[in-house]
Amino acid sequence: MDEKELMLSIRKIVDEAMEQLGKIQDGEGLEKWRIQYFGRKGTFASMTGRIPQMAVEIRPRAGALINDAKGQLTEAFEQKKTLLTQQGHKRTEHAVNFSLPGLRPETGTLHPVTLVSREIVRIFQGLGFGVHVGPEIETDFYNFEALNMPADHPARDMWDTFYLDPERKFLLRTHTSPVQIRIMEKISVPLRIIAIGKTFRRDDFDASHSPVFHQVEGLMVGHDITFSNLKAVLIFFLKELFGTRVKVRFLPSYFPFTEPSAEISISCVICDGRGCQTCGSTGWLEILGAGMVHPEVFRKSGIRQKNITGFAFGAGLERITMIKYGIDDIRQFYTGDIRFLKQFG
Ligand code: FA5
Repeated sequence: MDEKELMLSIRKIVDEAMEQLGKIQDGEGLEKWRIQYFGRKGTFASMTGRIPQMAVEIRPRAGALINDAKGQLTEAFEQKKTLLTQQGHKRTEHAVNFSLPGLRPETGTLHPVTLVSREIVRIFQGLGFGVHVGPEIETDFYNFEALNMPADHPARDMWDTFYLDPERKFLLRTHTSPVQIRIMEKISVPLRIIAIGKTFRRDDFDASHSPVFHQVEGLMVGHDITFSNLKAVLIFFLKELFGTRVKVRFLPSYFPFTEPSAEISISCVICDGRGCQTCGSTGWLEILGAGMVHPEVFRKSGIRQKNITGFAFGAGLERITMIKYGIDDIRQFYTGDIRFLKQFG
């Protein structure tokens, strides 16, 4: 084969290949075409394989002609591939069925502790209580000292504390009671507030305890506020939250910052007070700590007027939520398991 014959034969191959390419309709046809010309046993491979049998003088020219042809066809192949992809997209666009139901993204629900805290806020706002917050990082003064627990006071052991510095000046608040002091420093008497927020204790993480949990604090201060006011407000609150059927029980208790102090329980919402596993067969569920504000707390908060009295109370929000919804393990609240959370939203 001389150079002219070689050129003609390559031209013929290119023309045929271009004609075939023009007729291809889909990716499958395109792949077949690629294999036919560029595959291991394809047209160009066999042409290149024949070069050594050609006359020595035309071998370099043959190589160059074959390379040119390959370049031309590769470019046409890429153009065709782009064209087919674009056509494919267009076809898919037209294939969308707009009458099919859409894919709805999962929506979250409010956490049960959030639901209960909103309910508590609603009840107390209805009674004219303001809603406040305090810092989660507290000083020893607000968490203990101002609440009538000077250094070395044995009652400090009631709260196993996370301290933040070696001097034990800063800590994660163990209860929301320090908000009482901050409010009395800031707001003039008479006042009535609640405060809700996170609290921290070095407690085990078990079915009824968590090292981080929430509390609600309440404080009412004014002229001649009495224990009867405390009882009226808390009985109203508990009946609003748990239903009018619940009975409310007051027992004497001890907190360094209230005197007298009380522990308040409601009749068991599971067994109606008859005795069951949830209430430990007692028929009662402990729900609140409360009492009349200790004079020393007023003094530390800078309140010196005569005839000023007040009451305070505090409760664990997780505990209230567990009782309200019949949840038996506090750890459920922190798993983030959507199947659990969805039951309350
Ligand atoms: C107090 O923290 C007092 N500050 C309450 C108070 C306020 C009394 C104002 C008087 C006047 P106590 O340590 O009992 O009290 O905690 C209150 C509630 O927090 C408990 O009844 C319980 O429901 C909840 N609680 C305590 N520790 C944990 C814990 N580790 N995990 C979950 N809830 C807890």
